[in-house]
Amino acid sequence: AATAPLDLVIFGGAGDLSVRKLLPALYMAHLHSNLPPATRIHALGRQPWDRETFTTFVHDKVRGFIAPESLDEKAWQGFVARLGYVCLDATQADDFKHLASALQPGSDRVYYLATAPTLFTGICAHLHGAGLIDERARVVLEKPLGHDLASARAINDEVGRYFSETQTFRIDHYLGKETVQNLMVLRFGNIIFEPLWRSPYIKSVQITVAESVGVGSRAGFYDGTGALRDMVQNHLLQLLCIVAMEPPVSLDPDAVRDEKLKVLRSLRPMTEIDVARDTVRGQYTAGASNGDRAVGYLQEANVPADSTTETFVALRAHINNWRWANIPIFLRTGKRMAERRSEIVIEFADLPYTIFPDAPRQPVNRLMIRLQPEEHVQLQMMAKEPGSGMRLRPVSLDLDLESAFSARRAEAYERLLMDVIKGRLTHFMRRDELEAAWTWVEPILEGWSNLSEKPRPYTAGSWGPAASSALMAREGSAWVEEA
Ligand code: BG6
Repeated sequence: AATAPLDLVIFGGAGDLSVRKLLPALYMAHLHSNLPPATRIHALGRQPWDRETFTTFVHDKVRGFIAPESLDEKAWQGFVARLGYVCLDATQADDFKHLASALQPGSDRVYYLATAPTLFTGICAHLHGAGLIDERARVVLEKPLGHDLASARAINDEVGRYFSETQTFRIDHYLGKETVQNLMVLRFGNIIFEPLWRSPYIKSVQITVAESVGVGSRAGFYDGTGALRDMVQNHLLQLLCIVAMEPPVSLDPDAVRDEKLKVLRSLRPMTEIDVARDTVRGQYTAGASNGDRAVGYLQEANVPADSTTETFVALRAHINNWRWANIPIFLRTGKRMAERRSEIVIEFADLPYTIFPDAPRQPVNRLMIRLQPEEHVQLQMMAKEPGSGMRLRPVSLDLDLESAFSARRAEAYERLLMDVIKGRLTHFMRRDELEAAWTWVEPILEGWSNLSEKPRPYTAGSWGPAASSALMAREGSAWVEEA
């Protein structure tokens, strides 16, 4: 069916994700002529809008999320011409008849579920009931995929009744980031790192995803979720998988996902003692962010005054396998941190012996892979300070990937949407992967609720609670900004 038209259906089509990410990504794909010619985009929502109201809404809301230099009037008109709107209540089977009549006959169908996950199973059942799922149809599931292992399984079971695993695209937008995909190339497209990428040559690994934004207008969702479920269970563990996995036999979806699954299954389960000792939860208090005053989490709109939801997590993990035995892996993420920065730091082992009496006592070699906001790889090495003695000082080899390549870099959602359209599953999570991630995360959630401690306060605009530094110090390490 190479010539079949394509219908892209977005449940939650007027929602936050659609407005901020999906529609802008589809516009960019359209602008660069990457959408198949007969593609129609159907936004679904409960508002009783007609097409014109919707296109006005798109005009007012979506354009602001597109880089001004990419706005081209003719392309924009062409994009808008592809759009349709269907008023639909996802819980009403009858409403799916309106959807059926909006779709192109004989089309390939992509259903993007950008709604609360509680609606997923109903949507699939109603799509099936309306005869809208054939073997070519694909479903895209947005996170959060459940709030614990049992709910994730229930969603997977239900969706699995209507869509096979190869039709199911569980999105983790971090896997669509150019920089994250480049990590695989750094590791497996070069010879020089891999031989050292293991015990005993690595001393520790740190993965940071710091955000400067606060919870914003999303408290309704976020307060029931928290940083562990919102970021660690998915984005940070996926980054960890790519950092820690064995070389896959090929780039086939299952070859890559098999290796990631092995990492998740090798994570040492956290006991209650581990949770108390090796995890730090934080919640931001009033401070400053990018020079502006920022309120504390408890003062944010729609956050209950006694909320104990964590907006920061730092933890120490271990991978029980030959490559990673005894290497601490530190993960940390938070909102309202000092800056927006995602990075992976590989700290290599100390020298077995040094012949330089004046060598500074600090990490010798470190590989720092900055994923955002800029894409940057830095290798710290020791060099001789000019002068008569033999004094050593760290210097760095810098690679700025943005200036190394001039080609346009697509946003994560654009790249992933194109993967869905082309049926490429490599950068999507398989069911067993998702469930293995929940299996590891769940004891942490349980441990926290048994400990019934409050999250530790940290000032908005800082790097998190002091306990986060202490966690590293115990292992003789330090977060990169403190090293
Ligand atoms: C989302 C989380 O998955 O990722 C948000 O729900 C978070 O809370 C966002 O802000 C971060 O994504 P990015 O691409 O801005 O790093």
